[in-house]
Amino acid sequence: MKNPVTLTLEGLRKEPYASILCYPKGDENELENRIKELDMHGVATVEFAGKGGAFNVPVLGKGYVGIVVVAQRYSQRLALKIRRVDADREDLQHEAKMLAKANCAGVGPTFVDASKNFLLMQLIEGELLPAWLDANKEKNTVRQVLAEILEQCWHLDLLGLDHGELSKAPKHVIIDQCQQPWIVDFETSSDTRKPTNVTAICQYLRMSGGHVAKGVSEVLGERNRVEVISALRSYKKDQTRESLDKVVQACLH
Ligand SMILES: Nc1ncnc2c1ncn2[C@@H]1O[C@H](COP(=O)(O)OP(=O)(O)OP(=O)(O)O)[C@@H](O)[C@H]1O
Ligand SMILES: [Mg+2]
Repeated sequence: MKNPVTLTLEGLRKEPYASILCYPKGDENELENRIKELDMHGVATVEFAGKGGAFNVPVLGKGYVGIVVVAQRYSQRLALKIRRVDADREDLQHEAKMLAKANCAGVGPTFVDASKNFLLMQLIEGELLPAWLDANKEKNTVRQVLAEILEQCWHLDLLGLDHGELSKAPKHVIIDQCQQPWIVDFETSSDTRKPTNVTAICQYLRMSGGHVAKGVSEVLGERNRVEVISALRSYKKDQTRESLDKVVQACLH
């Protein structure tokens, strides 16, 4: 992996950075348009650093829709999601709208700005949930962080916003240095679909049998499957604080 580097917009014309801005491959025209678009956002520099990688360059993260890096604008460090040229999305406007809506419930990184190919938002520095769980085995801390994730999912349910990717969320929850969890990536979110965030995240954390579910069981002990299912069933009916508390009780105690 190459060393972390901070580049001005001019520096983005050089490879391999040009190909990251237009991942996996763009022409001269696409590159110039994207540099102009970044300039319009007031982005001064882009930082290539982090645990992810694209073309051997470190980045914060890489998915099927975008590559996320750090951008500086007006001396503020922000997360910049760059739309992949081969993404099956025309633009990042829907994601921007969904993120801004999630923010109304106090969930997700704060939305800053968006255009066709870029989304600027609050930078979350921390660990993805699976890595965080590998490194944190203290019962109360794990319980507190997971309860806060459920709480955020409840707020999204009440708002009527379905995240869409929480039943398999290894890359969609980041825990920051203050042990605060953040739900990211609202590109498959919907405010018309019935929201099932609490059910989906419980499924992922306690029932899926995957790496994270095993890690949670290691720290909190085995859950009572019947109790979890019954609590989720009641929660589905009314989504009250009381029902949520029962889900938290069944899943995390
Ligand atoms: N605001 C942020 N601050 C810091 N890192 C972030 C932020 N948003 C996303 N990331 C990192 O970038 C990764 C990719 O982002 P995101 O999930 O939005 O991309 P994606 O292309 O939609 O991914 P996928 O194909 O998995 O849905 C995340 O898993 C996370 O590690
Ligand atoms: Mg996504």
